[in-house]
Amino acid sequence: MVKVLGINGSPRSYGNSIQALRLALKAAELEGAEVSLINLYDYDIKPCLGCVSDDVMACTYPCPIDDGMVKIYPEITSADGLIISSPIYWFGISGLLKNLIDRLTVLENMIYVDGKSWLEGKVAGFIALGNDEGATMVISHLMSVANSFGMVIPPWALAYYVGEGNALEEVKLLMDAANVGRAVALMAQVLKGLRGQPKIWYRADDKYREYIKNLAKEIMAEFDEKIMKSDTL
Ligand SMILES: Cc1cc2nc3c(=O)[nH]c(=O)nc-3n(C[C@H](O)[C@H](O)[C@H](O)COP(=O)(O)O)c2cc1C
Repeated sequence: MVKVLGINGSPRSYGNSIQALRLALKAAELEGAEVSLINLYDYDIKPCLGCVSDDVMACTYPCPIDDGMVKIYPEITSADGLIISSPIYWFGISGLLKNLIDRLTVLENMIYVDGKSWLEGKVAGFIALGNDEGATMVISHLMSVANSFGMVIPPWALAYYVGEGNALEEVKLLMDAANVGRAVALMAQVLKGLRGQPKIWYRADDKYREYIKNLAKEIMAEFDEKIMKSDTL
């Protein structure tokens, strides 16, 4: 069994980023992965203090900052795959997601202690949602970071959408998001020796398309209900 962790980088726990992420995780589950989801904005994640720039040996796990990362680090180290979903904020990722990435330096920097980044070999997938522009900047940034952490990026591990309204109504986005989840789960299984290479990575046959469209409808309905019931919004 492989574990896939979804990270929602939007403060809106009902927005497009989490809905597309939920779909990706459902698709990962369909391939046999155990999935979980973190809403980053439920945690206090302080900025990195830059200890590594003083001395590489000053940045080793555990990070000296005592905040929400204490709970997040074990979730990440125990996962085989991560799917990061971010809203596009001024052509970049959200602020708290940037804090998270900088704070992961402590895992990457374990190379100086263990000879190996603690993120090495984990599989990464990416989703970016916006209204207007900047999706590929966000995805290319996240891909560069993940690969520099030692992570593996499978084929078709990116999904993005810019536009108004609910992103899950866009068939291309929902098929791309589902295939991010599928690719991350499959690659994690391949790397763990649990299966061979799939015949195809991006699945787009009619049966799968219908299944994913129905999943997307269920997710949208679930979030509609949450929004209707919530008196905090
Ligand atoms: C501070 C801020 C900056 C934004 N900058 C961009 C941007 O550069 N490009 C873009 O396409 N959308 C931008 N947006 C719009 C959001 O990306 C868009 O509303 C997105 O769907 C929000 O994701 P969510 O629904 O998961 O919260 C910005 C929104 C905010 C709040």
